[in-house]
Amino acid sequence: MDEKKTEEMIALAIGQLKYAYAPYSGFRVGAALLTESGKLYTGCNIENAAYTPTNCAERTAFFKAVSEGERDFKAICIVGGKDGLLTGYTSPCGVCRQVMMEFCDPESFRIILAVSKDRYQTFTLKEILPLGFGPDNLE
Ligand code: THU
Repeated sequence: MDEKKTEEMIALAIGQLKYAYAPYSGFRVGAALLTESGKLYTGCNIENAAYTPTNCAERTAFFKAVSEGERDFKAICIVGGKDGLLTGYTSPCGVCRQVMMEFCDPESFRIILAVSKDRYQTFTLKEILPLGFGPDNLE
């Protein structure tokens, strides 16, 4: 993953903050998901008055991509903050980590947590979801 691609993903994720539907928490999240073929899919969080149907930005991006036939992913960038103000890293919830586990290689899939183009940190899925349960376990 080169720096230019990372910066492009950060800019795209930040651009998603304006679409976040977060009337209950006020916490806006944006994501940009990179496929192995180089395509980018975006996502934002979408809340619900019944709370549990809420969809995180990461899952929005994954479900958009998977629903269009994508199955191979390289990296995801996530940004988020109260009222859309980016003051610290927004790390994926457990449910989103599990969705990543379904479609991504834990050793190579990269999660880029960003605050700005010059402030970000990268982890592998395995680092943030050690001993994850995935499709391989059912073989
Ligand atoms: N949220 C995300 O979209 N992604 C994360 O990584 C953490 C949490 C959303 C869900 C909810 O709409 C709001 O942030 C507060 O939890």
